[in-house]
Amino acid sequence: MGKKGISIAIDGPAGSGKSTVARRVAEALGLLYVDTGAMYRAVTLKAQREKISLDDGEALTKLANELDLSYKKMPDHTYRLFMDGEDVSDEIRTERVSTGVSLVAAVKGVRRALVERQKQMGAAGDVVMDGRDIGSTVLPEADYKIFLTASIHERAKRRWLELQAQKVDVSLEEIEEGLQKRDYIDCNRETDPLRPAPGCLILDTTDLDIDQVVGKILSLINNNP
Ligand code: DC
Repeated sequence: MGKKGISIAIDGPAGSGKSTVARRVAEALGLLYVDTGAMYRAVTLKAQREKISLDDGEALTKLANELDLSYKKMPDHTYRLFMDGEDVSDEIRTERVSTGVSLVAAVKGVRRALVERQKQMGAAGDVVMDGRDIGSTVLPEADYKIFLTASIHERAKRRWLELQAQKVDVSLEEIEEGLQKRDYIDCNRETDPLRPAPGCLILDTTDLDIDQVVGKILSLINNNP
């Protein structure tokens, strides 16, 4: 059942479980789900393909302004991201893109371009959006703002288990190191750094599974209509 006009912002660091949780909450409430990290990842992929240096803020900004991005819900209820008409949903999840994306997301002009698009996507409401700056910058008027977090070790372990399932050979230590680097860049950049928005609910998911986190968010919404 869609609740008219409702908007939910879910922010948090990599590995906090926010994408899975946000998708499940959107599904339960019949709302649109928007994964804003996927948009930063698409700009990164395009830059890597075109051999644009990830230090070249001007060229990256131009890319972010010109890139044709659309986010589509498929008949099987999954969401796919199309870049210039090509489905890049799987390619944006590779380690190569994950390693570069924090640099791209730190570029002011890139953020300005993508935040503007995200604001438009959220303007009509009936949306769950996840990212790093949704409650603070993209949807500051959101009805519900949630900040998911978990210990670095737990977040690394989740990512490692995911990669093990995909038969990717990487150590837990490497993952933890990579996460630490991304956290540092995401939290210390000049524009829209990752931090809980004023008035948000902070949920530590270290000892919770996905069902428990989704349950807590749905009861928050049901108890505070
Ligand atoms: O959630 P994710 O791992 O797909 O995010 C990829 C990167 O993009 C990560 O470095 C943080 C950044 N990001 C951001 O700065 N702002 C957002 N709204 C979403 C993601």
